[in-house]
Amino acid sequence: MLITVICVIIFVFIVLPKIINQNEKEGATIKNSKTLIVYYSRTGITKAVAELIQEKVGGDLVQIETKESRPTDYRMEVEQNAQEQESATLPELKTIITNFENYDRIFIGAPTWNMALPQAVVSFLNSYNFEKKTVIPFNTNGGYGPGSTFRR
Ligand SMILES: Cc1cc2nc3c(=O)[nH]c(=O)nc-3n(C[C@H](O)[C@H](O)[C@H](O)COP(=O)(O)O)c2cc1C
Repeated sequence: MLITVICVIIFVFIVLPKIINQNEKEGATIKNSKTLIVYYSRTGITKAVAELIQEKVGGDLVQIETKESRPTDYRMEVEQNAQEQESATLPELKTIITNFENYDRIFIGAPTWNMALPQAVVSFLNSYNFEKKTVIPFNTNGGYGPGSTFRR
């Protein structure tokens, strides 16, 4: 009985305050970290996931957009994308993140295109220095799986 009482006292007055303090510190770190959520999205599915992430963790939401507009016709986009992937063409981006160095946590969302990453997202990855940043990739796809999207 006495041992149980001593254990409860130790837990309540020594262990619990430490746990609470630690959790508060971690919460503060997450809140203070500058978060960027970037996404590429043709039909809005990856955009919807990006918005959910923003709702949960906060941060700035930015859409990756190309300088030249993309085909609206699905078949034409499939064809253009396949050509760009085959020739490793990097589309120029309209989206420029001028304060990129201010972010330390970056979510990057992309749909799978032709079992790989759309070349516009490759352009984005090539445009910035991700050293010392925490990068969290996320993906949507039509059900064939992400292919090489995450590896890339
Ligand atoms: C050009 C193109 C190629 C695609 N290739 C694939 C594929 O290889 N595998 C797959 O599962 N889905 C593929 N999809 C479907 C998209 O990955 C899927 O619909 C995705 O959720 C769309 O996201 P978004 O609405 O953000 O553009 C392709 C879609 C397009 C437009």
